[in-house]
Amino acid sequence: MEIDVGPELAPSAAGHAPKQAAPGAPESDPASGTAHHQSEPARVLTQMVPWAAVERRGRRVVVTGAAGFIGSHLAETLLRRGEQVTALDRAVGHPDVLSDLQQPAGNPRWRAQRTELALDDLDDLLVDVDTVFHLAAVPGVRDSWDARFADYAASNVVGTHRLLGACERAGVRRLVLASSSSVYGQVSGLSCEQDPAAPVSPYGVTKLAAEQLCLVHAARADTDLEVVVLRYFTVYGPRQRRDMAISRVLRAALSRPAAGPQFQLYGDGSQRREFTYIDDVVTATIAAGVVPLPAGVVVNIGGGSTASMRDVLDLAEEITGRPVPVLSTGRRPGDVEATGADLTRARALLGYRPSVDLREGMTRHATWLAGTCETLATPGVSTRSGLVRASGSQP
Ligand SMILES: NC(=O)c1ccc[n+]([C@@H]2O[C@H](COP(=O)([O-])OP(=O)(O)OC[C@H]3O[C@@H](n4cnc5c(N)ncnc54)[C@H](O)[C@@H]3O)[C@@H](O)[C@H]2O)c1
Repeated sequence: MEIDVGPELAPSAAGHAPKQAAPGAPESDPASGTAHHQSEPARVLTQMVPWAAVERRGRRVVVTGAAGFIGSHLAETLLRRGEQVTALDRAVGHPDVLSDLQQPAGNPRWRAQRTELALDDLDDLLVDVDTVFHLAAVPGVRDSWDARFADYAASNVVGTHRLLGACERAGVRRLVLASSSSVYGQVSGLSCEQDPAAPVSPYGVTKLAAEQLCLVHAARADTDLEVVVLRYFTVYGPRQRRDMAISRVLRAALSRPAAGPQFQLYGDGSQRREFTYIDDVVTATIAAGVVPLPAGVVVNIGGGSTASMRDVLDLAEEITGRPVPVLSTGRRPGDVEATGADLTRARALLGYRPSVDLREGMTRHATWLAGTCETLATPGVSTRSGLVRASGSQP
């Protein structure tokens, strides 16, 4: 997939934005480290830097969590763009992802290293690195209540802190953190970056802690490290984690025989989510690595609209042409009623516009799923809308 960041995206001329706010950029919000008046910086930055600079290739970049769902897509895309990619992950393999962090087809610009961020020495891995995309974390709300919390804390908090220190020592220019909408907690309406963070799960607490660590490191006067915190809103698409709703609902629909696994619906299906297609997340994340920005900034990355779980169920049935067997269970602690992203800042600072809507994204996801497993049926026959197979490319 080619990244089209759009002409309004402000590129980084030399790859080094000033440590203080970019010239003409708005005042920082002391509470969040973020910026107000979001339309202004895009205009200023677009005027400041030549567009061609965003096409700069060959930087040395690190992707942590590169064996995971989002990290693997990001690492592969960066490699295709010509970057020198060091892929870090502690995973010993993931059924849907990069062949166990192996070097893709002997590409000399690809290096993979099995690394535990909470324990291993990181300094040697960051020599001459320009940008670190930090996606490694233990994700998911539900497991974070139990004994696994120690791992959440070690990976998401201690691992992030160790990585930030190593980045500072190595002179890394910028770290982009994958944070989460879960830092907002229970909300009504769209969430803005300036809104108070009030997570309602231990997972959300660890992601907020990671954000705050990034912002305090970025605020240090004695380092040049910039950080960009991206708050992703429910990401889906090929290789999505199997514990996530769209993956589960499509697997339930496509399983053969039809009376295969049931889709566990937590609550009555009225809960709404902003779903974001993987390609849009990758585009935004790469942009966050190159665009000149204030040294510590928080940006929402969403899909541009919300849908209820009932909507998702209906769409899954339309796309696959098969019924979804549903097992209704109660709400789980930490599940929020709704998420929704105000994307004003993402548009202004990153030139971000989500390009794949839920119907198209789920169709691509279903087509990929059907191709990965022989126990899954091929989508393509619609019972209701005439909607058939993916029209988009396979990532
Ligand atoms: N998937 C979503 O909808 C979503 C939404 C919001 C935020 N995020 C964030 O995006 C990032 C990626 O999420 P994902 O869905 O791809 O998850 P994932 O589980 O597929 O990938 C995370 C990867 O991080 C690795 N990892 C975890 N702890 C590590 C450690 N201590 N050292 C080294 N590697 C470690 C894991 O092995 C895994 O491969 C995470 O930071 C997550 O919090 C994801």
